[in-house]
Amino acid sequence: MPGRNNLREAIKLRRMAEAVPPAMDATEAALAAHERDKTLTKHHFEPSEHPCVRIEHLMKTFDGETQVLTDVNLTVWPGEVVCVLGPSGSGKSTMLRCINLLETPTAGHILIEDKEITGRLHTTEVNKLRQNLGMVFQSFNLFPHLTAKGNVMIGQTKVLKKSKEEAEAEALKQLDAVGLLDRADFKPAQLSGGQQQRVAIARAVAMHPDILLFDEPTSALDPELVRGVLDVMRDLAENGGMTMIVVTHEMGFAREVADRVVFMEGGVVVEQGKPEQVFDHPKNERTAQFLGSIG
Ligand SMILES: Nc1ncnc2c1ncn2[C@@H]1O[C@H](COP(=O)(O)OP(=O)(O)O)[C@@H](O)[C@H]1O
Ligand SMILES: [Mg+2]
Repeated sequence: MPGRNNLREAIKLRRMAEAVPPAMDATEAALAAHERDKTLTKHHFEPSEHPCVRIEHLMKTFDGETQVLTDVNLTVWPGEVVCVLGPSGSGKSTMLRCINLLETPTAGHILIEDKEITGRLHTTEVNKLRQNLGMVFQSFNLFPHLTAKGNVMIGQTKVLKKSKEEAEAEALKQLDAVGLLDRADFKPAQLSGGQQQRVAIARAVAMHPDILLFDEPTSALDPELVRGVLDVMRDLAENGGMTMIVVTHEMGFAREVADRVVFMEGGVVVEQGKPEQVFDHPKNERTAQFLGSIG
């Protein structure tokens, strides 16, 4: 009887959600996270620094039964580059989508700059939050009818209410930074996948978010176009000082650029640490298997 099973499932989920403790106090959480993270990341901690993203006991189920995130706990520090690895279906995209409110968590807490974003938020708060969180998708998601420059300008004029002149100057600056100044007037269909993705990155950066989320930004690209996109991301990480959470299968990039590597499986963070710890001395058997099968 599926109806009864669904009900049972719903009750079980409700119980699990209720068992999640309230979000930790900001100062306490920062101290605890610092203590926990100091050996797990190459990030240079400032005295009394607080994490910019704090995920506590995050749970997400779809349709009341498919449990995709079971209990995700993760902190990200200002300027840190965190690469998230894991097999397909492990919940990586769902976690990113919960962080920028494209999905509503079932239970648990996400705090951005110590402000809880899980729970009811006013539309203005949601919009403000989205401005602080840039996202780059696997599929670029550019507007096909706009030029590269138009794509980089539109969020600035519509959301940030910048003047056309200001937005254009910023767009050209960011297109230059990703090596596409000479393609500013091209439409997406006239650009390669790699170029489109670089436009998408320029668009995200032009909004000057505090945190940039990347969901497998190079997975849809032909192999010869991957390098250019990774170079742009590396430049942002090393010279732009951006806080970045990058879901990727690019092991070389993760090893060289990440401050911390996080391995997810089955809706939980199974292992995390500095790249050399996770890649060369994985503690968890599943991490080792995954890295062995892909590396
Ligand atoms: N909107 C949705 N409705 C139902 N199931 C979903 C939805 N989005 C994702 N899932 C399921 O959640 C699981 C994890 O998905 P996802 O977060 O995309 O994993 P990953 O990015 O690690 O490959 C998958 O089994 C997927 O089918
Ligand atoms: Mg995914």
